[in-house]
Amino acid sequence: MKHPIIIGLQYGDEGKGKITDTLAKQADWVIRFNGGNNAGHTLWLGGKKIVTHAVPSGVRYSHAKNFIGPGCVVDPVALKKEIDELISHGVDLSPEKFKVDFRAHVTLPIHLALDSGREGGAQGIGTTKRGIGPTYTTKTDRVGIRVGEVVEGKAFDKVRFLCQNYNSILKAAGLPESSESQNLAALESASDIFKKYISTDPTPFFDVAKTKKCLLEGAQGIMLDLDHGSYPFVTSSSTLPAYAAVGAPFPLRNLGHVIGVAKAYVTRVGLGPFDTELKNEIGERIRARGAEFGATTGRPRRIGWINVDELRLAVRLADCNHIALTKGDILAGEPKVFAQMNGKLVAFEGWEKCAVEQNGKKVLTPAFEKFVSALEEFSGASISVVGTGQDREDIVWRKEVSWW
Ligand code: IMP
Repeated sequence: MKHPIIIGLQYGDEGKGKITDTLAKQADWVIRFNGGNNAGHTLWLGGKKIVTHAVPSGVRYSHAKNFIGPGCVVDPVALKKEIDELISHGVDLSPEKFKVDFRAHVTLPIHLALDSGREGGAQGIGTTKRGIGPTYTTKTDRVGIRVGEVVEGKAFDKVRFLCQNYNSILKAAGLPESSESQNLAALESASDIFKKYISTDPTPFFDVAKTKKCLLEGAQGIMLDLDHGSYPFVTSSSTLPAYAAVGAPFPLRNLGHVIGVAKAYVTRVGLGPFDTELKNEIGERIRARGAEFGATTGRPRRIGWINVDELRLAVRLADCNHIALTKGDILAGEPKVFAQMNGKLVAFEGWEKCAVEQNGKKVLTPAFEKFVSALEEFSGASISVVGTGQDREDIVWRKEVSWW
């Protein structure tokens, strides 16, 4: 049995939610394998908008089990808040439905202080300030704290060591330090939540992958990958689908379709180069229509035309075979739409609508289909799914695919 992986092909915020929700509905397990609560996923529960950050997207479905893998980092304070909010909206988050791997690294106040401290200075890159980078730093420095150690009550000395060592960096820069007592208190409260949800199986999906439908849910996007993205303006984990084999960990030979999600234009939050950026009224119009403000930080996203050179690179890096193209409807009404190919902006005739009903079937309008076909040809992956509007049902399945 082979299992699909969903990843972003640009700079995160590609609208992964729609395709993720569609597949999560059919999945037995939804697994996060990278990043932490820097991600954002909008859910509508009982007419109320809830943005989740750390928990996988299967939480809204009563049958799906959800897993945070060892490739992720977890802030227990933020996680508890998220869980409490979901439970208050009737979501079942019993330990059978949600698990956190014992090897995931824990974000503490010291990590948040380090992230904010760095961001306040000349070396800031526009992070989400969720402590993600410093948590991966202490992980690779071999002094990080893992979920299992918190549960076993073995982390107190390590927290003292972390505070002493890393506060010296803050002190030298004249930045506010993070007290030992604050970090120890965070650890205390982490212990309860981790005790409830910990998974101690070192190969949780080795057997599961043979019989149950799994969905691997990647966070951020290929261009924010630590190794292959636009370094240093990147996140601190791998965003490539290959990392699912490491960060879940998922049996390599059971990984299947790679579904890359791309927006019909590009957005980026944080700093970093952006060739096709629109710092004009077109960009402002797209930002307003597309509600392009960060789900985690509320920051206005930078807007630009789609860069198909980068998309092609991302397809190749991810070995992506299916693209889900989103938000073409946001560009509707623009007289001309542009796409960067071979370093040049190529003009396309605009469209008034993305899709129409034809013989009881939803199909793309001719002008939009022309744009989509050009992207497909140039990027090298089949654009099999197209989002055509805000509602979950606004999807055109251009190709018939069995995802499992
Ligand atoms: P960090 O992941 O918070 O360290 O931020 C590093 C870079 O990745 C910054 O440019 C962030 O804006 C960006 N980033 C991190 N997570 C997301 C996301 O989910 N969507 C979009 N950008 C993100």
